[in-house]
Amino acid sequence: MPRKAPPSGTRPGIDVLLHENRVFRPDAAFRRRAHVRDVSVYARARGNPEAFWASCAREVAWFRPWKKVLAWNPPHARWFVGGRLNASFNCLDRHLGTAARNRAAILWEGEPGDERTLTYAQLHRETCRFANVLKELGVGRGDRVTLYMPLIPELAIAMLACARIGAVHSVVFGGFSSEALKERINDAKATVLVTADGGFRRGSEVPLKKFSDEALLGAPSVRHVVVVRRGNFPVQMQEGRDRFWHDLMKDRSAECPPEPMNSEDMLYILYTSGTTGKPKGIVHATGGYMVGVHTTTRWVFDLKPEDVYWCTADIGWVTGHSYVVYGPLSNGATVLMYEGAPDWPDRGRFWQICEKYGVTIFYTAPTAIRAFMRWGGDWPGRYDLSSLRLLGTVGEPINPEAWMWYRKKIGGGRCPIVDTWWQTETGMILITPLPGITPTRPGSATRAFPGVEAEVLDERGRVVKEGGGYLAIRRPWPAMLQTIYGDPDRYVKQYWSKWDAGTYFPGDGARRDRRGDFWLLGRVDDVLNVAGHRIGTMEVESALVDHPAVAEAAVVGKAHDLKGQALAAFVTLKEGIQSDGDLVSQLKGHVVRRIGALARPDDIVFTAELPKTRSGKIMRRLLKDIAEGRALGDTTTLADPAVLQVLKQKYEED
Ligand code: WTA
Repeated sequence: MPRKAPPSGTRPGIDVLLHENRVFRPDAAFRRRAHVRDVSVYARARGNPEAFWASCAREVAWFRPWKKVLAWNPPHARWFVGGRLNASFNCLDRHLGTAARNRAAILWEGEPGDERTLTYAQLHRETCRFANVLKELGVGRGDRVTLYMPLIPELAIAMLACARIGAVHSVVFGGFSSEALKERINDAKATVLVTADGGFRRGSEVPLKKFSDEALLGAPSVRHVVVVRRGNFPVQMQEGRDRFWHDLMKDRSAECPPEPMNSEDMLYILYTSGTTGKPKGIVHATGGYMVGVHTTTRWVFDLKPEDVYWCTADIGWVTGHSYVVYGPLSNGATVLMYEGAPDWPDRGRFWQICEKYGVTIFYTAPTAIRAFMRWGGDWPGRYDLSSLRLLGTVGEPINPEAWMWYRKKIGGGRCPIVDTWWQTETGMILITPLPGITPTRPGSATRAFPGVEAEVLDERGRVVKEGGGYLAIRRPWPAMLQTIYGDPDRYVKQYWSKWDAGTYFPGDGARRDRRGDFWLLGRVDDVLNVAGHRIGTMEVESALVDHPAVAEAAVVGKAHDLKGQALAAFVTLKEGIQSDGDLVSQLKGHVVRRIGALARPDDIVFTAELPKTRSGKIMRRLLKDIAEGRALGDTTTLADPAVLQVLKQKYEED
């Protein structure tokens, strides 16, 4: 089957996957103890998906049962209609009468090595207290609260406190710049911002309060700022607006009844990159989301009370929302959180942490695994990793070499690996092995989670049984996004318009093998996946054009050994501006200020002209060929083919 648009994330070596014959079947001993032991679950769920999801929903605590499992008016789904629940009650209160009460909910380690433990009872108390603080600041049901914080327990507490009183949190990753923060606050019209004096990254300070102050100059909706003292970093507090967390928490009551929320009420907004310059506020509702993350956490990670579970993602990304906070805590698990970088103070830090806390489940991104590989097997080799029993990956396609290395060097050859495919929009894992029953192959995310119907389709929507095409999800799933905040039309257009209104288009290319297993191939649109982070090319282009020297810019992804993809920018300068090395670093700095360090281009090349079609469209495909050092593809539609030759030569010289 010919692929119309070759997926942009495709790396050389992807074809090798076709010949990937190594199979790893679930180990009998693992299977015997697993939550899911019986393959018939797939057939049962397929036979009656709504009955299946209803059985999952019964594992979640409801104040009032739902009347209808699903009301589906494509592309709008309402899950567990009529049901009432509270996400923070599910993560906290429901455990208080059980053995989990005095179990560690959060084992936290700061980058400098400081430690904190919060049991479920303690986490409950802190959450109630902060919920009361929020109420006093005038926050109520449906109000938006922006959280811009390091990976510290207060971030989870603030999220759960919002959920407790029915407020909507919008977490902005601490690596984003003040500009990006401002844009997200304004889109959500948040009234309260919770931040910290700063955070630690590789031993230096990330001045979060300073960035917040800059953002707030242009974000008038915010009336109150709460500042956590993380590192005794100097801050300027604005009288009447800014208060310290510890001052506000003083004498605050530890009782705060959870607000009974409708299943469809908004739980959070999380911004993610799309194909246009403006980030999309992905909206998740309460009931379906909690059912989706509760079930997938239990089944995919085979999570047990005795586990020490570590998902290395920052809470600022969806992986942290679903699989650091809501999924594991609603399961009463012990969650490890580590604030800092994997190579600080040395490249053994992650493995030292695994040994120290006896981590049993470890979930990370392929980009991290590729870095570990490059640093060498000696680092993990120095530590006792025998407590590990299950490994996971998320965020981008994993190359089979990295998968095998992960299995051998980290998993000691005995741990199953779950390669989990999902998105900010899907809220929950949709394609993944179940570790007790699904045979795995290095590089394949295997099959759809029970109750999820995934397919590969061609451009016209015909099913591709074997071969490549576009990934499609054919029926609603509980944790699916509800809409794009403030932009319902874009929700329909972006996700449900490629084929029919009932088929979801995630924007990923995929291949199916003869067994029906999925091999994810990366994005097919203008979204790049740099080190597991989604970055829209348009966002970076807008940031560049925003610089006074720049007339026009085109940004493409190029294959990168560690990061998966890196950014290459082609820039046309305004009349009379001289290009030099100084300007290159200025422009890189400008992108970092506008978006954050994660969007810094690796290469910037100046050009008098960009290759365009006669209708004026920039030919990014050809720029990608140049950036990756390939022979140029079809150039016949170019207005001026000569532009390209000059550019190619220039890029190679640079
Ligand atoms: C990619 C992260 C291949 C994919 C949870 C998707 C993956 C985007 C995998 C979502 C995987 C995620 N194999 N690709 N196991 N998991 N992706 O919204 O391109 O930050 O569309 O959510 O990451 O990124 P997001």
